[in-house]
Amino acid sequence: MGTFGSAPRARPATTERHPKMAAPNPVSPADWWRQATVYQIYPRSFADANGDGVGDLPGITSRVGYLAELGVDAVWLSPFYPSALADGGYDVDDYRDVDPRLGTLDDFDAMVAALHGAGIKLIVDIVPNHSSNRHEWFQAALAAPKGSPERDRYVFRDGLGEDGELPPADWVSMFGGPAWTAVGDGQWYLHLFAPEQPDFNWRSEEVRADFLKTLRFWSDRGVDGFRVDVAHALAKDLPADLPSQAELEAMDKATGLHPLWDRDEVHDIYAGWRRVFNEYDPPRIAVAEAWVNPPARRARYASAEGLGQAFNFDLLEADFDAGAFRSIITDNLEQAAASGSSTTWVFSNHDVVRHATRYGLPPNGDEPRKYNRAWLLSRGTEPELDAARGLRRARAATLLMLALPGCAYLYQGEELGLGEVAAIPDEARQDPTFFRSPGVDVGRDGCRVPLPWTVEGPSFGFGAGPAHLPQPDWFGKLSVEAEAGDEGSTLSLYREALALRRELQTDETLEWVRYPSESVLHFRRANGWEAVANFGAETLPLPEGRVLLASGPFDAGELPGETTVWLRR
Ligand code: NOJ
Repeated sequence: MGTFGSAPRARPATTERHPKMAAPNPVSPADWWRQATVYQIYPRSFADANGDGVGDLPGITSRVGYLAELGVDAVWLSPFYPSALADGGYDVDDYRDVDPRLGTLDDFDAMVAALHGAGIKLIVDIVPNHSSNRHEWFQAALAAPKGSPERDRYVFRDGLGEDGELPPADWVSMFGGPAWTAVGDGQWYLHLFAPEQPDFNWRSEEVRADFLKTLRFWSDRGVDGFRVDVAHALAKDLPADLPSQAELEAMDKATGLHPLWDRDEVHDIYAGWRRVFNEYDPPRIAVAEAWVNPPARRARYASAEGLGQAFNFDLLEADFDAGAFRSIITDNLEQAAASGSSTTWVFSNHDVVRHATRYGLPPNGDEPRKYNRAWLLSRGTEPELDAARGLRRARAATLLMLALPGCAYLYQGEELGLGEVAAIPDEARQDPTFFRSPGVDVGRDGCRVPLPWTVEGPSFGFGAGPAHLPQPDWFGKLSVEAEAGDEGSTLSLYREALALRRELQTDETLEWVRYPSESVLHFRRANGWEAVANFGAETLPLPEGRVLLASGPFDAGELPGETTVWLRR
Protein backbone atom coordinates (compact mmCIF):
# COMPACT_ATOMS: atom_id res chain seq x y z
CA MET A 1 0.00 0.00 0.00
CA GLY A 2 1.12 3.52 -0.86
CA THR A 3 2.41 5.54 2.05
CA PHE A 4 3.42 2.85 4.45
CA GLY A 5 5.27 0.59 2.07
CA SER A 6 5.58 -3.15 1.98
CA ALA A 7 4.61 -5.83 4.44
CA PRO A 8 6.65 -6.28 7.61
CA ARG A 9 10.02 -7.91 6.96
CA ALA A 10 9.76 -10.47 9.73
CA ARG A 11 6.19 -11.44 10.26
CA PRO A 12 5.22 -14.54 12.15
CA ALA A 13 3.11 -17.09 10.34
CA THR A 14 -0.64 -16.96 10.85
CA THR A 15 -0.80 -19.90 13.24
CA GLU A 16 1.71 -18.26 15.55
CA ARG A 17 -0.14 -15.01 15.41
CA HIS A 18 -3.15 -16.68 16.93
CA PRO A 19 -1.65 -18.79 19.68
CA LYS A 20 -3.83 -20.78 22.01
CA MET A 21 -5.10 -18.37 24.62
CA ALA A 22 -7.20 -18.89 27.67
CA ALA A 23 -10.85 -18.31 26.85
CA PRO A 24 -11.68 -14.60 27.23
CA ASN A 25 -13.34 -13.60 30.45
CA PRO A 26 -17.07 -14.02 30.10
CA VAL A 27 -18.69 -10.59 29.71
CA SER A 28 -22.25 -10.21 30.93
CA PRO A 29 -24.63 -8.92 28.23
CA ALA A 30 -25.18 -5.74 30.25
CA ASP A 31 -21.44 -5.01 30.26
CA TRP A 32 -20.84 -5.33 26.51
CA TRP A 33 -19.68 -1.70 26.30
CA ARG A 34 -16.94 -1.83 28.92
CA GLN A 35 -14.15 -2.96 26.60
CA ALA A 36 -15.86 -2.65 23.24
CA THR A 37 -14.43 -1.26 20.01
CA VAL A 38 -16.84 1.37 18.74
CA TYR A 39 -16.63 2.74 15.19
CA GLN A 40 -17.95 6.23 14.58
CA ILE A 41 -19.87 6.80 11.36
CA TYR A 42 -20.42 10.33 10.14
CA PRO A 43 -23.37 9.29 7.98
CA ARG A 44 -23.22 11.93 5.27
CA SER A 45 -19.66 10.88 4.47
CA PHE A 46 -19.68 7.10 4.82
CA ALA A 47 -21.46 5.56 1.82
CA ASP A 48 -23.96 7.04 -0.62
CA ALA A 49 -26.46 4.46 -1.88
CA ASN A 50 -28.64 6.73 -4.02
CA GLY A 51 -25.90 8.68 -5.80
CA ASP A 52 -26.93 12.16 -4.65
CA GLY A 53 -23.48 12.88 -3.24
CA VAL A 54 -24.57 12.55 0.40
CA GLY A 55 -24.05 9.40 2.42
CA ASP A 56 -27.22 7.72 3.68
CA LEU A 57 -28.62 4.94 5.86
CA PRO A 58 -29.00 2.41 3.01
CA GLY A 59 -25.33 3.15 2.27
CA ILE A 60 -24.45 2.09 5.82
CA THR A 61 -26.62 -1.02 5.54
CA SER A 62 -24.80 -1.96 2.33
CA ARG A 63 -21.47 -1.81 4.18
CA VAL A 64 -22.35 -3.85 7.27
CA GLY A 65 -20.24 -6.69 5.86
CA TYR A 66 -17.26 -4.36 5.84
CA LEU A 67 -17.85 -3.38 9.47
CA ALA A 68 -18.20 -7.01 10.49
CA GLU A 69 -14.98 -7.91 8.71
CA LEU A 70 -13.24 -4.97 10.36
CA GLY A 71 -14.31 -6.52 13.66
CA VAL A 72 -16.01 -3.66 15.49
CA ASP A 73 -18.42 -4.35 18.35
CA ALA A 74 -20.57 -1.27 17.87
CA VAL A 75 -21.25 1.67 15.62
CA TRP A 76 -21.75 5.21 16.91
CA LEU A 77 -23.84 7.07 14.38
CA SER A 78 -23.47 10.86 14.27
CA PRO A 79 -26.78 12.74 13.76
CA PHE A 80 -28.99 11.48 10.95
CA TYR A 81 -32.05 13.56 11.90
CA PRO A 82 -33.79 16.12 9.67
CA SER A 83 -31.52 19.15 9.62
CA ALA A 84 -30.61 22.14 7.49
CA LEU A 85 -26.96 21.19 8.19
CA ALA A 86 -25.98 24.49 9.74
CA ASP A 87 -23.65 22.34 11.86
CA GLY A 88 -23.27 19.02 10.08
CA GLY A 89 -26.53 17.65 11.52
CA TYR A 90 -25.88 18.79 15.12
CA ASP A 91 -28.73 21.22 14.44
CA VAL A 92 -31.71 18.90 14.80
CA ASP A 93 -35.15 19.80 13.40
CA ASP A 94 -36.91 16.69 14.67
CA TYR A 95 -35.42 14.26 17.19
CA ARG A 96 -37.67 11.39 16.24
CA ASP A 97 -37.24 11.14 12.49
CA VAL A 98 -34.65 10.55 9.76
CA ASP A 99 -33.43 13.25 7.38
CA PRO A 100 -35.18 12.43 4.07
CA ARG A 101 -31.84 12.86 2.28
CA LEU A 102 -30.50 10.02 4.42
CA GLY A 103 -33.52 7.75 4.24
CA THR A 104 -36.63 6.88 6.21
CA LEU A 105 -37.50 5.28 9.52
CA ASP A 106 -37.90 2.02 7.60
CA ASP A 107 -34.35 2.42 6.33
CA PHE A 108 -33.28 3.00 9.92
CA ASP A 109 -34.98 -0.23 11.01
CA ALA A 110 -33.35 -2.11 8.15
CA MET A 111 -29.96 -0.75 9.17
CA VAL A 112 -30.49 -1.78 12.80
CA ALA A 113 -31.54 -5.26 11.71
CA ALA A 114 -28.48 -5.63 9.48
CA LEU A 115 -26.10 -4.42 12.19
CA HIS A 116 -27.66 -6.63 14.83
CA GLY A 117 -27.68 -9.53 12.39
CA ALA A 118 -23.90 -9.09 12.16
CA GLY A 119 -23.56 -8.90 15.95
CA ILE A 120 -22.87 -5.14 15.92
CA LYS A 121 -24.56 -2.80 18.40
CA LEU A 122 -25.74 0.70 17.54
CA ILE A 123 -25.21 3.91 19.51
CA VAL A 124 -26.94 7.02 18.18
CA ASP A 125 -25.96 10.61 18.77
CA ILE A 126 -28.38 12.69 20.78
CA VAL A 127 -28.12 16.48 20.86
CA PRO A 128 -29.87 17.77 24.00
CA ASN A 129 -28.19 21.14 24.54
CA HIS A 130 -29.79 22.79 21.53
CA SER A 131 -32.25 22.09 18.76
CA SER A 132 -32.13 23.71 15.35
CA ASN A 133 -33.88 27.00 14.69
CA ARG A 134 -36.24 25.03 12.40
CA HIS A 135 -37.46 22.80 15.23
CA GLU A 136 -41.21 23.28 15.69
CA TRP A 137 -40.69 24.43 19.28
CA PHE A 138 -38.29 27.16 18.26
CA GLN A 139 -40.60 28.29 15.49
CA ALA A 140 -43.41 28.41 18.05
CA ALA A 141 -41.18 30.42 20.40
CA LEU A 142 -40.51 32.97 17.67
CA ALA A 143 -44.22 33.31 16.98
CA ALA A 144 -45.14 33.63 20.67
CA PRO A 145 -44.74 36.72 22.82
CA LYS A 146 -42.17 37.46 25.47
CA GLY A 147 -42.81 35.53 28.68
CA SER A 148 -44.83 32.80 26.91
CA PRO A 149 -44.51 29.08 27.72
CA GLU A 150 -43.20 28.61 24.16
CA ARG A 151 -40.26 30.90 24.86
CA ASP A 152 -39.64 29.20 28.18
CA ARG A 153 -38.40 26.07 26.39
CA TYR A 154 -35.35 28.07 25.21
CA VAL A 155 -33.14 30.70 26.83
CA PHE A 156 -34.58 34.12 26.00
CA ARG A 157 -33.49 37.38 27.59
CA ASP A 158 -34.35 41.05 27.14
CA GLY A 159 -31.71 42.98 25.26
CA LEU A 160 -29.94 45.96 26.77
CA GLY A 161 -30.38 49.55 25.58
CA GLU A 162 -33.59 51.51 25.40
CA ASP A 163 -35.38 49.11 23.04
CA GLY A 164 -33.40 46.00 23.75
CA GLU A 165 -31.29 46.67 20.68
CA LEU A 166 -28.09 45.53 22.40
CA PRO A 167 -27.31 41.90 23.31
CA PRO A 168 -27.88 40.89 26.93
CA ALA A 169 -24.13 40.13 27.20
CA ASP A 170 -21.03 40.16 25.01
CA TRP A 171 -20.71 36.37 25.03
CA VAL A 172 -18.89 34.68 22.19
CA SER A 173 -20.22 31.43 20.74
CA MET A 174 -18.07 28.30 20.41
CA PHE A 175 -17.94 28.82 16.67
CA GLY A 176 -16.95 32.49 16.94
CA GLY A 177 -19.32 35.46 16.69
CA PRO A 178 -21.95 36.48 19.27
CA ALA A 179 -23.74 33.87 21.39
CA TRP A 180 -26.96 35.94 21.55
CA THR A 181 -29.21 36.68 18.55
CA ALA A 182 -32.07 39.19 18.47
CA VAL A 183 -35.57 38.10 17.49
CA GLY A 184 -36.88 41.59 16.67
CA ASP A 185 -39.05 42.39 19.69
CA GLY A 186 -36.31 43.39 22.10
CA GLN A 187 -35.61 39.80 23.12
CA TRP A 188 -32.55 37.72 22.32
CA TYR A 189 -31.93 33.98 22.50
CA LEU A 190 -28.81 32.15 23.64
CA HIS A 191 -26.88 29.83 21.36
CA LEU A 192 -23.57 28.51 22.63
CA PHE A 193 -22.92 27.27 19.09
CA ALA A 194 -24.29 28.61 15.75
CA PRO A 195 -27.30 31.00 15.66
CA GLU A 196 -29.18 28.09 14.05
CA GLN A 197 -28.69 26.11 17.30
CA PRO A 198 -30.79 27.76 20.05
CA ASP A 199 -30.03 26.37 23.52
CA PHE A 200 -32.83 24.59 25.33
CA ASN A 201 -33.90 25.64 28.80
CA TRP A 202 -33.41 22.46 30.79
CA ARG A 203 -35.40 23.87 33.71
CA SER A 204 -38.47 23.35 31.54
CA GLU A 205 -40.35 20.18 32.47
CA GLU A 206 -41.54 19.93 28.89
CA VAL A 207 -37.99 19.82 27.58
CA ARG A 208 -37.07 17.16 30.11
CA ALA A 209 -40.09 15.02 29.32
CA ASP A 210 -39.61 15.31 25.58
CA PHE A 211 -36.06 13.98 25.74
CA LEU A 212 -37.20 10.99 27.79
CA LYS A 213 -39.71 10.34 25.04
CA THR A 214 -36.92 10.53 22.45
CA LEU A 215 -34.72 8.12 24.42
CA ARG A 216 -37.59 5.63 24.55
CA PHE A 217 -38.45 6.17 20.90
CA TRP A 218 -35.00 5.05 19.70
CA SER A 219 -34.54 2.44 22.42
CA ASP A 220 -37.82 0.85 21.36
CA ARG A 221 -36.50 0.79 17.79
CA GLY A 222 -33.56 -1.28 19.01
CA VAL A 223 -30.74 1.18 19.54
CA ASP A 224 -28.30 -0.01 22.16
CA GLY A 225 -27.09 3.35 23.40
CA PHE A 226 -26.60 7.07 23.02
CA ARG A 227 -23.66 9.41 22.55
CA VAL A 228 -24.61 12.59 24.38
CA ASP A 229 -23.53 15.80 22.66
CA VAL A 230 -22.08 18.58 24.87
CA ALA A 231 -23.32 16.70 27.90
CA HIS A 232 -21.77 19.25 30.28
CA ALA A 233 -23.74 22.27 29.04
CA LEU A 234 -27.40 21.39 29.65
CA ALA A 235 -27.83 22.82 33.13
CA LYS A 236 -27.44 26.59 33.21
CA ASP A 237 -27.96 29.23 35.82
CA LEU A 238 -27.98 32.72 34.38
CA PRO A 239 -28.05 35.45 37.02
CA ALA A 240 -30.22 38.53 36.43
CA ASP A 241 -27.08 40.55 35.92
CA LEU A 242 -25.15 38.59 33.31
CA PRO A 243 -21.37 38.41 33.65
CA SER A 244 -19.21 39.58 30.73
CA GLN A 245 -17.37 37.14 28.48
CA ALA A 246 -14.13 38.00 30.27
CA GLU A 247 -15.76 37.30 33.63
CA LEU A 248 -17.22 34.03 32.36
CA GLU A 249 -13.82 32.91 31.18
CA ALA A 250 -12.20 33.84 34.48
CA MET A 251 -14.68 31.73 36.48
CA ASP A 252 -13.53 28.39 37.81
CA LYS A 253 -15.31 25.61 35.95
CA ALA A 254 -14.30 23.00 38.50
CA THR A 255 -16.67 24.21 41.20
CA GLY A 256 -19.85 22.88 39.62
CA LEU A 257 -21.22 26.43 39.87
CA HIS A 258 -20.19 27.99 36.55
CA PRO A 259 -23.27 29.61 34.94
CA LEU A 260 -22.90 27.56 31.73
CA TRP A 261 -20.58 24.60 31.99
CA ASP A 262 -20.41 21.41 34.04
CA ARG A 263 -22.89 22.45 36.71
CA ASP A 264 -23.48 19.82 39.35
CA GLU A 265 -27.24 19.69 38.81
CA VAL A 266 -26.75 18.43 35.25
CA HIS A 267 -26.44 15.01 36.88
CA ASP A 268 -30.06 15.16 38.06
CA ILE A 269 -31.03 15.15 34.38
CA TYR A 270 -28.88 12.09 33.69
CA ALA A 271 -30.22 10.28 36.74
CA GLY A 272 -33.62 10.53 35.03
CA TRP A 273 -32.16 9.23 31.79
CA ARG A 274 -30.57 6.32 33.64
CA ARG A 275 -33.98 5.28 34.95
CA VAL A 276 -35.14 5.07 31.32
CA PHE A 277 -32.03 3.17 30.21
CA ASN A 278 -32.61 0.64 32.98
CA GLU A 279 -36.14 -0.06 31.75
CA TYR A 280 -34.50 -2.04 28.94
CA ASP A 281 -32.77 -5.39 28.92
CA PRO A 282 -29.87 -5.10 28.54
CA PRO A 283 -29.93 -1.54 29.84
CA ARG A 284 -29.24 1.08 27.19
CA ILE A 285 -25.82 2.67 27.51
CA ALA A 286 -24.65 6.23 27.09
CA VAL A 287 -21.36 7.98 26.61
CA ALA A 288 -20.94 11.64 27.52
CA GLU A 289 -19.13 14.14 25.40
CA ALA A 290 -18.00 16.30 28.30
CA TRP A 291 -14.88 18.42 27.87
CA VAL A 292 -14.50 19.01 31.60
CA ASN A 293 -11.58 19.92 33.77
CA PRO A 294 -10.00 18.67 35.91
CA PRO A 295 -10.48 15.26 34.25
CA ALA A 296 -11.62 13.83 37.58
CA ARG A 297 -14.96 15.64 37.01
CA ARG A 298 -15.61 13.21 34.18
CA ALA A 299 -16.31 10.49 36.73
CA ARG A 300 -19.73 11.98 37.52
CA TYR A 301 -20.84 11.65 33.91
CA ALA A 302 -19.49 8.11 33.84
CA SER A 303 -21.21 7.02 37.04
CA ALA A 304 -23.58 4.06 37.01
CA GLU A 305 -26.35 6.36 38.30
CA GLY A 306 -25.76 8.68 35.35
CA LEU A 307 -24.73 8.17 31.75
CA GLY A 308 -22.36 5.34 32.62
CA GLN A 309 -19.45 6.26 30.39
CA ALA A 310 -17.63 9.44 29.30
CA PHE A 311 -15.15 10.20 26.57
CA ASN A 312 -11.60 10.70 27.70
CA PHE A 313 -9.98 13.04 25.17
CA ASP A 314 -6.60 13.14 26.87
CA LEU A 315 -4.75 11.00 24.31
CA LEU A 316 -6.37 12.96 21.49
CA GLU A 317 -4.89 16.13 22.95
CA ALA A 318 -1.44 14.71 23.72
CA ASP A 319 1.78 14.79 21.76
CA PHE A 320 3.25 11.52 20.61
CA ASP A 321 5.30 11.21 23.76
CA ALA A 322 5.90 8.21 26.00
CA GLY A 323 5.82 10.17 29.26
CA ALA A 324 2.60 11.97 28.38
CA PHE A 325 0.91 8.74 27.28
CA ARG A 326 2.02 6.92 30.41
CA SER A 327 0.61 9.45 32.83
CA ILE A 328 -2.64 9.74 30.86
CA ILE A 329 -3.08 5.98 30.87
CA THR A 330 -2.31 5.66 34.58
CA ASP A 331 -4.57 8.56 35.59
CA ASN A 332 -7.49 7.41 33.49
CA LEU A 333 -7.37 3.85 34.70
CA GLU A 334 -7.42 5.14 38.26
CA GLN A 335 -10.32 7.48 37.55
CA ALA A 336 -12.28 4.76 35.79
CA ALA A 337 -11.75 2.40 38.68
CA ALA A 338 -12.96 5.07 41.09
CA SER A 339 -16.09 5.79 39.03
CA GLY A 340 -16.97 2.14 38.47
CA SER A 341 -17.00 2.74 34.73
CA SER A 342 -14.41 1.56 32.23
CA THR A 343 -12.17 4.11 30.64
CA THR A 344 -12.48 5.21 27.00
CA TRP A 345 -9.79 6.03 24.46
CA VAL A 346 -9.98 8.03 21.27
CA PHE A 347 -7.56 9.64 18.83
CA SER A 348 -9.82 10.93 16.07
CA ASN A 349 -13.40 12.03 15.53
CA HIS A 350 -15.42 14.37 13.30
CA ASP A 351 -14.25 17.47 15.23
CA VAL A 352 -10.47 17.21 15.16
CA VAL A 353 -7.58 16.91 12.72
CA ARG A 354 -7.06 13.23 11.93
CA HIS A 355 -4.30 11.70 14.04
CA ALA A 356 -2.31 10.39 11.05
CA THR A 357 -1.85 14.08 10.17
CA ARG A 358 -1.42 15.49 13.67
CA TYR A 359 1.49 13.17 14.31
CA GLY A 360 3.20 14.24 11.10
CA LEU A 361 3.28 17.90 12.13
CA PRO A 362 5.62 19.54 14.61
CA PRO A 363 4.05 20.73 17.89
CA ASN A 364 2.79 24.26 17.47
CA GLY A 365 3.69 26.06 20.68
CA ASP A 366 0.90 25.97 23.24
CA GLU A 367 -1.82 25.34 20.69
CA PRO A 368 -3.73 22.16 21.53
CA ARG A 369 -2.63 19.33 19.26
CA LYS A 370 -6.11 18.59 18.02
CA TYR A 371 -6.42 21.88 16.11
CA ASN A 372 -3.27 22.49 14.07
CA ARG A 373 -4.88 25.80 13.13
CA ALA A 374 -1.87 27.36 11.41
CA TRP A 375 -1.35 24.33 9.20
CA LEU A 376 -5.03 24.25 8.24
CA LEU A 377 -5.03 27.98 7.54
CA SER A 378 -2.06 27.54 5.22
CA ARG A 379 -4.16 24.89 3.44
CA GLY A 380 -1.72 22.23 4.49
CA THR A 381 1.51 23.81 3.32
CA GLU A 382 3.09 25.32 6.47
CA PRO A 383 4.71 23.72 8.40
CA GLU A 384 5.60 20.87 6.09
CA LEU A 385 3.73 17.64 6.79
CA ASP A 386 5.69 14.40 7.10
CA ALA A 387 2.80 12.13 6.11
CA ALA A 388 4.77 8.88 6.29
CA ARG A 389 5.91 9.67 9.81
CA GLY A 390 2.42 10.74 10.82
CA LEU A 391 0.97 7.45 9.64
CA ARG A 392 3.75 5.41 11.24
CA ARG A 393 3.12 7.09 14.58
CA ALA A 394 -0.65 6.85 14.21
CA ARG A 395 -0.42 3.12 13.62
CA ALA A 396 1.85 2.73 16.64
CA ALA A 397 -0.42 4.85 18.84
CA THR A 398 -3.53 2.98 17.74
CA LEU A 399 -2.00 -0.42 18.35
CA LEU A 400 -1.01 0.75 21.81
CA MET A 401 -4.54 2.02 22.46
CA LEU A 402 -6.14 -1.21 21.30
CA ALA A 403 -4.17 -3.14 23.90
CA LEU A 404 -5.30 -0.92 26.76
CA PRO A 405 -8.09 -1.90 29.12
CA GLY A 406 -11.32 -0.05 28.33
CA CYS A 407 -13.43 0.96 25.39
CA ALA A 408 -11.79 2.17 22.15
CA TYR A 409 -13.54 4.64 19.86
CA LEU A 410 -12.42 4.68 16.21
CA TYR A 411 -13.42 7.24 13.60
CA GLN A 412 -14.36 6.18 10.07
CA GLY A 413 -11.38 6.23 7.73
CA GLU A 414 -8.68 5.96 10.35
CA GLU A 415 -8.57 2.25 9.58
CA LEU A 416 -7.43 3.26 6.08
CA GLY A 417 -4.76 5.59 7.45
CA LEU A 418 -6.59 8.60 6.02
CA GLY A 419 -5.05 11.96 6.74
CA GLU A 420 -6.74 15.33 7.05
CA VAL A 421 -7.74 16.94 3.75
CA ALA A 422 -6.39 20.48 4.03
CA ALA A 423 -6.81 21.65 0.45
CA ILE A 424 -10.59 22.06 0.25
CA PRO A 425 -11.62 25.05 -1.88
CA ASP A 426 -13.28 27.77 0.22
CA GLU A 427 -16.46 27.59 -1.84
CA ALA A 428 -16.84 23.89 -1.05
CA ARG A 429 -16.50 24.31 2.72
CA GLN A 430 -19.49 23.57 4.97
CA ASP A 431 -18.39 23.91 8.58
CA PRO A 432 -19.81 26.95 10.41
CA THR A 433 -16.47 27.60 12.12
CA PHE A 434 -15.03 28.49 8.71
CA PHE A 435 -17.69 31.13 8.06
CA ARG A 436 -17.93 32.50 11.60
CA SER A 437 -14.24 32.93 12.32
CA PRO A 438 -12.69 34.06 9.04
CA GLY A 439 -8.92 33.86 9.01
CA VAL A 440 -8.85 32.23 12.45
CA ASP A 441 -10.33 28.78 11.94
CA VAL A 442 -10.71 26.70 8.82
CA GLY A 443 -13.06 24.27 10.50
CA ARG A 444 -13.60 20.55 10.51
CA ASP A 445 -14.44 19.67 6.92
CA GLY A 446 -11.01 18.12 6.37
CA CYS A 447 -11.80 15.10 8.54
CA ARG A 448 -15.31 14.74 7.12
CA VAL A 449 -14.44 14.09 3.48
CA PRO A 450 -16.35 11.03 2.18
CA LEU A 451 -14.57 7.69 2.42
CA PRO A 452 -12.80 6.15 -0.56
CA TRP A 453 -14.04 2.63 -1.20
CA THR A 454 -12.48 2.01 -4.63
CA VAL A 455 -9.26 3.06 -6.35
CA GLU A 456 -11.13 4.93 -9.06
CA GLY A 457 -14.60 6.22 -9.83
CA PRO A 458 -16.35 9.57 -9.57
CA SER A 459 -16.15 9.56 -5.77
CA PHE A 460 -13.83 6.58 -5.24
CA GLY A 461 -16.79 4.26 -4.74
CA PHE A 462 -18.50 6.46 -2.13
CA GLY A 463 -21.43 6.84 -4.52
CA ALA A 464 -22.32 6.92 -8.18
CA GLY A 465 -21.62 10.65 -8.51
CA PRO A 466 -19.33 13.26 -7.00
CA ALA A 467 -19.19 13.55 -3.22
CA HIS A 468 -20.63 16.49 -1.24
CA LEU A 469 -17.13 17.44 -0.08
CA PRO A 470 -14.43 17.06 -2.72
CA GLN A 471 -11.99 14.18 -2.26
CA PRO A 472 -8.32 14.61 -3.11
CA ASP A 473 -6.55 12.45 -5.74
CA TRP A 474 -4.55 10.63 -3.09
CA PHE A 475 -7.71 9.06 -1.64
CA GLY A 476 -7.71 6.30 -4.29
CA LYS A 477 -4.56 4.64 -3.03
CA LEU A 478 -5.97 4.67 0.51
CA SER A 479 -9.26 3.14 -0.55
CA VAL A 480 -10.71 -0.06 0.90
CA GLU A 481 -10.17 -1.73 -2.46
CA ALA A 482 -6.48 -0.77 -2.52
CA GLU A 483 -5.84 -1.86 1.05
CA ALA A 484 -8.02 -4.93 1.49
CA GLY A 485 -5.64 -7.40 -0.10
CA ASP A 486 -2.43 -5.77 1.10
CA GLU A 487 -0.93 -7.40 4.19
CA GLY A 488 1.03 -4.29 5.11
CA SER A 489 -1.90 -1.87 4.78
CA THR A 490 -3.42 0.03 7.64
CA LEU A 491 -6.73 -1.71 6.98
CA SER A 492 -5.07 -5.12 7.40
CA LEU A 493 -3.44 -3.91 10.62
CA TYR A 494 -6.79 -2.79 12.06
CA ARG A 495 -8.52 -6.00 11.02
CA GLU A 496 -5.86 -8.16 12.64
CA ALA A 497 -5.68 -5.97 15.72
CA LEU A 498 -9.44 -6.02 16.29
CA ALA A 499 -9.68 -9.77 15.79
CA LEU A 500 -6.85 -10.36 18.26
CA ARG A 501 -8.19 -7.78 20.71
CA ARG A 502 -11.49 -9.60 20.84
CA GLU A 503 -9.74 -12.88 21.45
CA LEU A 504 -7.29 -11.52 24.04
CA GLN A 505 -9.60 -9.21 25.98
CA THR A 506 -9.21 -9.72 29.70
CA ASP A 507 -9.51 -7.94 33.07
CA GLU A 508 -9.59 -4.14 33.04
CA THR A 509 -6.13 -3.85 34.54
CA LEU A 510 -2.59 -3.48 33.33
CA GLU A 511 0.83 -3.85 34.86
CA TRP A 512 3.70 -1.66 33.69
CA VAL A 513 6.84 -3.56 32.75
CA ARG A 514 10.18 -1.80 33.19
CA TYR A 515 12.02 -1.08 29.95
CA PRO A 516 15.47 0.52 30.05
CA SER A 517 14.55 3.55 27.93
CA GLU A 518 12.15 6.36 28.75
CA SER A 519 10.92 6.51 25.20
CA VAL A 520 9.39 3.04 25.47
CA LEU A 521 6.14 2.03 27.16
CA HIS A 522 5.69 -1.62 27.98
CA PHE A 523 2.72 -3.12 29.76
CA ARG A 524 1.18 -6.49 30.41
CA ARG A 525 -2.47 -7.45 30.73
CA ALA A 526 -3.73 -10.03 33.19
CA ASN A 527 -3.54 -12.93 30.72
CA GLY A 528 0.01 -12.23 29.58
CA TRP A 529 -0.88 -10.12 26.56
CA GLU A 530 1.82 -7.43 26.27
CA ALA A 531 2.27 -4.26 24.28
CA VAL A 532 5.56 -2.47 23.85
CA ALA A 533 5.63 0.90 22.11
CA ASN A 534 8.74 2.76 21.05
CA PHE A 535 7.97 6.50 20.83
CA GLY A 536 11.56 7.41 19.94
CA ALA A 537 13.25 7.28 16.54
CA GLU A 538 15.99 4.76 17.38
CA THR A 539 15.66 0.99 17.01
CA LEU A 540 15.87 -0.73 20.40
CA PRO A 541 15.83 -4.37 21.52
CA LEU A 542 12.46 -6.11 21.47
CA PRO A 543 11.61 -7.80 24.79
CA GLU A 544 11.34 -11.58 24.89
CA GLY A 545 8.12 -13.13 23.75
CA ARG A 546 6.18 -14.37 20.79
CA VAL A 547 5.21 -11.55 18.46
CA LEU A 548 1.48 -11.38 17.80
CA LEU A 549 1.28 -8.21 15.75
CA ALA A 550 3.34 -5.13 14.94
CA SER A 551 2.35 -1.68 13.75
CA GLY A 552 5.16 -1.60 11.19
CA PRO A 553 8.03 -3.55 9.67
CA PHE A 554 10.58 -5.01 12.06
CA ASP A 555 13.53 -7.41 12.09
CA ALA A 556 13.64 -10.27 14.57
CA GLY A 557 14.56 -9.11 18.05
CA GLU A 558 14.27 -5.45 17.18
CA LEU A 559 11.79 -2.75 18.12
CA PRO A 560 12.08 -0.03 15.49
CA GLY A 561 11.36 3.60 16.27
CA GLU A 562 7.71 4.76 16.34
CA THR A 563 6.46 1.19 16.38
CA THR A 564 4.26 -0.85 18.71
CA VAL A 565 4.48 -4.63 19.02
CA TRP A 566 2.07 -6.99 20.74
CA LEU A 567 3.72 -9.90 22.46
CA ARG A 568 2.78 -12.98 24.39
CA ARG A 569 5.21 -14.65 26.74
C1 NOJ B 1 -19.99 18.53 19.63
C2 NOJ B 1 -20.06 17.87 18.30
O1 NOJ B 1 -19.14 16.81 18.28
C3 NOJ B 1 -19.75 18.93 17.27
O2 NOJ B 1 -19.58 18.37 16.00
C4 NOJ B 1 -20.85 19.95 17.30
O3 NOJ B 1 -20.51 21.00 16.42
C5 NOJ B 1 -21.04 20.52 18.69
N1 NOJ B 1 -21.05 19.51 19.71
C6 NOJ B 1 -22.35 21.27 18.79
O4 NOJ B 1 -23.43 20.37 18.72
